[in-house]
Amino acid sequence: MIVCHCNSISDRDILSAVEWMRAADPQTIITPGKVYHALGKRPECGGCLSLFIGTMEKSDSLGVPAVLQNLRPRRGRFAGK
Ligand code: FES
Repeated sequence: MIVCHCNSISDRDILSAVEWMRAADPQTIITPGKVYHALGKRPECGGCLSLFIGTMEKSDSLGVPAVLQNLRPRRGRFAGK
């Protein structure tokens, strides 16, 4: 299925790019911009972004790497209470 009509990017292209990026760097944060870049394309109208992200989310490889999870301080942790 074509997800991005401006660039003729299919759901398979997106999922393959996500898998490739995860295999190449297990600790990378995968963003739509990085997927476009990996495919050698650039977004044009942006009309596909929600579907593009939805397609990315179907990949098991999209998750945030464990070493980068929970880095944000919890509420009140540094509030000096
Ligand atoms: S449809 Fe994807 S950038 Fe236009």
